[in-house]
Amino acid sequence: MSRFVLGVTGASGIIYATRTAMYLQRFGHEVTLLVTHPGKQVLEYEEQKELYGYCKEVCNVDDFFAECASGSADYVGMAVVPCSMGTLGRIAAGTSDNLLVRAADVCLKECRRLVIVPREMPYNLIHIENMKRVALAGAVVVPASPQFYSKPKSIEELVDTVVAKILKLLGVDAEQVATIVKPWGNSCE
Ligand SMILES: Cc1cc2nc3c(=O)[nH]c(=O)nc-3n(C[C@H](O)[C@H](O)[C@H](O)COP(=O)(O)O)c2cc1C
Repeated sequence: MSRFVLGVTGASGIIYATRTAMYLQRFGHEVTLLVTHPGKQVLEYEEQKELYGYCKEVCNVDDFFAECASGSADYVGMAVVPCSMGTLGRIAAGTSDNLLVRAADVCLKECRRLVIVPREMPYNLIHIENMKRVALAGAVVVPASPQFYSKPKSIEELVDTVVAKILKLLGVDAEQVATIVKPWGNSCE
């Protein structure tokens, strides 16, 4: 069992977070959920309240006394899914002005895996520069670009092509991840 932080922002695509948490729970891991205030509104709007049910705990983003605000807590990594351009900018600037941004900052300083899934279209130069900045600091930038060559038959299957990548980069067991989306080479008919 490993512990992960899952950060959710006010970007579209909360279903990516829901299914990331669902698989982490299914594979025996614990998820600490942090949702920004705009994130809560978009989560409700996109009808993803089931996300809460997959998480071990939900921390208030204003609570800097939470465990994940400290590098001494035993989290192995964090994913920000989906990541708004606002939160991307705050992580890139190191503002640590809410618990989600602080937890991401902690991941970078402790050299833990930080997976950032930006969601915006198109990107302006500020977005691109911020992605470059977090990548240079050690984060992995994983755009929500689903694959079609596995021939997904539903929105959930399409979403899972991105979720499998997130889980793999978080260090989840490759055999477990392969039960979600078969790696290339095993998926040929
Ligand atoms: C329905 C909805 C969808 C949104 N989608 C995006 C998006 O995909 N990417 C983005 O950067 N902002 C998006 N926004 C705007 C953000 O919610 C807004 O910039 C917010 O301040 C982000 O705050 P946060 O980073 O603290 O979550 C969306 C807003 C709404 C209401």
